[in-house]
Amino acid sequence: MSNNLLAGKRGIIFGALNQDSIAWKVAEKAHEQGAKFVLTNAPIAMRMGEINELASKTGSEVIPADATNMEDLENLFTKAEEILGGKLDFILHSIGMSVNVRKGKHYTELNYDWLEKGWDVSAVSFHRVMQVAWKRDAMNEWGSILALTYIAAQRTFPDYNDMADNKAYLESIARSFGYHFGKAKKVRVNTISQSPTPTTAGSGVKGFDGFINYAEKMSPLGNATAEDCAEYCISLFSDLTKRVTMQNLFHDGGFSNTGVSQEIVESFSSDS
Ligand SMILES: NC(=O)c1ccc[n+]([C@@H]2O[C@H](COP(=O)([O-])OP(=O)(O)OC[C@H]3O[C@@H](n4cnc5c(N)ncnc54)[C@H](O)[C@@H]3O)[C@@H](O)[C@H]2O)c1
Repeated sequence: MSNNLLAGKRGIIFGALNQDSIAWKVAEKAHEQGAKFVLTNAPIAMRMGEINELASKTGSEVIPADATNMEDLENLFTKAEEILGGKLDFILHSIGMSVNVRKGKHYTELNYDWLEKGWDVSAVSFHRVMQVAWKRDAMNEWGSILALTYIAAQRTFPDYNDMADNKAYLESIARSFGYHFGKAKKVRVNTISQSPTPTTAGSGVKGFDGFINYAEKMSPLGNATAEDCAEYCISLFSDLTKRVTMQNLFHDGGFSNTGVSQEIVESFSSDS
């Protein structure tokens, strides 16, 4: 159902790899709500070609960019403004990767070259994107910039490894840049802390299956799906949330404020 919440708005959506990706669902819903946008992903991710299907479905163009490369980002913003015909109203940063997680390196034995790569891709890239937008004055007033994060930034989830530290860094960048973007340009910057979600990045975390089931039982409303997350993103890109900024917004069915649920207690009680 469309309420045209994003009619006339222009944006850039990073991170749609395949149909499971959170960014994929955001693109579909943004299109439904009347937005125009360009899709982007790392050149290496284009090889799978699935993003072209999303592009034709949403009437958008694809511009490859490695989010850790300033030249790629400059080129992306130049082309996006040309294609869309003006400044931007929203940006979604839906990017994450840890080489240590990928290669199964234990947190106590991190490889620091891999750590640097992971934090550049997962956290510093958000600063890079905002710096390019800032210097080019590419955002319209009351625009909205969003990144996706996970509660391991606040509490320890051992298998999340160095991604926990990357997410803490990402959330801090949202607050710090959010201050400047708010003051100077009336642009809001937030992070959404999403439930575990079965995507390529999510499923790469060790023990993901057990963990997503645990989160489901711990959350009074159940886990938020990728579609739910996309709807929340749309609300934050819309004019209905104009003065929400510098926040880390939990979108997790209540997981973050639940000490323990009845189901979990029962699964441990001796008479169960
Ligand atoms: N899946 C979950 O359980 C979960 C939970 C909370 C937060 N998140 C976050 O949601 C975001 C999206 O992940 P997802 O779950 O949709 O998985 P996904 O694997 O579909 O998306 C991750 C994206 O990051 C892109 N990427 C990697 N390196 C890049 C680079 N150098 N430049 C540009 N793009 C690059 C990938 O190509 C991919 O499209 C990530 O920030 C992730 O940490 C995911």
